[in-house]
Amino acid sequence: MNIVGVDLGGTFVKVGLVDSLNGKIKRKTEIETQVTSGKDSVLKRIAEAIQKITAGENYIAVGIGSPGSIDKKRGIVRFSPNFPDWNNYPLGPELSRILNKSVFIENDANSFVLGEKWFGAGQGYEHIVALTLGTGVGGGVISHNILITGSNGIGGELGHVIINPQGPLCGCGNHGCLEAYASATGIIRMAKEKRKKFPDSEIFKANEITAKSVFDAAKNGDRLANKIINEVVEALAIGITGFIHTFNPSVIIIGGGISRAGDILFKPLRERVEELVMPSFKNSYKILQSPLVENAGILGAASIVLQRIGKRD
Ligand code: BGC
Ligand code: NA
Ligand code: ZN
Repeated sequence: MNIVGVDLGGTFVKVGLVDSLNGKIKRKTEIETQVTSGKDSVLKRIAEAIQKITAGENYIAVGIGSPGSIDKKRGIVRFSPNFPDWNNYPLGPELSRILNKSVFIENDANSFVLGEKWFGAGQGYEHIVALTLGTGVGGGVISHNILITGSNGIGGELGHVIINPQGPLCGCGNHGCLEAYASATGIIRMAKEKRKKFPDSEIFKANEITAKSVFDAAKNGDRLANKIINEVVEALAIGITGFIHTFNPSVIIIGGGISRAGDILFKPLRERVEELVMPSFKNSYKILQSPLVENAGILGAASIVLQRIGKRD
């Protein structure tokens, strides 16, 4: 059974044709358009990409993982902090009209946790907390095998848990959200703020500051880069400790571009969380790096369809 998964990311839209029985991606393509660059043209290109990768193949429906608060019944993106252009956009119905297929939408990080449960590091677990660290910070929670979405379907916004109300401004309009520290946006902001104090930092040698360049500099012992990573780790550890106390998950799975930093992020994070959790929770959980890497978004998006049509719980 084939499903199309669409991963709406900050810099790329990824589209894949997935064999839902084994999670194999049969074909995929990437659209290098910023989703912020005008939704109608992006929608058209998504539709074209789907038509291209499904040529000569059958598929039952399309799943879209989208950042923001999603009205899944009506297929509308209600509010998306980093993609304001998409607010109140009926993405599902619009795409469905062009393709003449069912389209299901879910929050991208909720999709991610479903994808991890069925095809990734969450297999076999009933209690999973997932975070995606990218342009924004996304959260997804599976508790007692059920995706937790709350009364309006928009729960699980773990990236906007407030770590410090006096902290930096977040894309959502609040201050000191986890996202304001642990996203690429937050990391780049911290680097820029410290530029005057650390003008010789390796971070500023390249033309453009990216989260990756900060992690690379940290690996080379750069002082500013290591300071920034300490802040990222501290914010993540505070957030994750709260999620552990709330949900008692077996695994916390971390994905998104920033998770690829690997040990330089995960080692101090594991240590700090274990310091912060209350005694009864010590050693009760594992913090894992997402194994699905760049396919996580597509597999997550395809998983939405499986969930909605009731093929999996
Ligand atoms: C949004 C979330 C989304 C996350 C990752 C956040 O800014 O509020 O809905 O899951 O970014 O894209
Ligand atoms: Na979420
Ligand atoms: Zn926020």
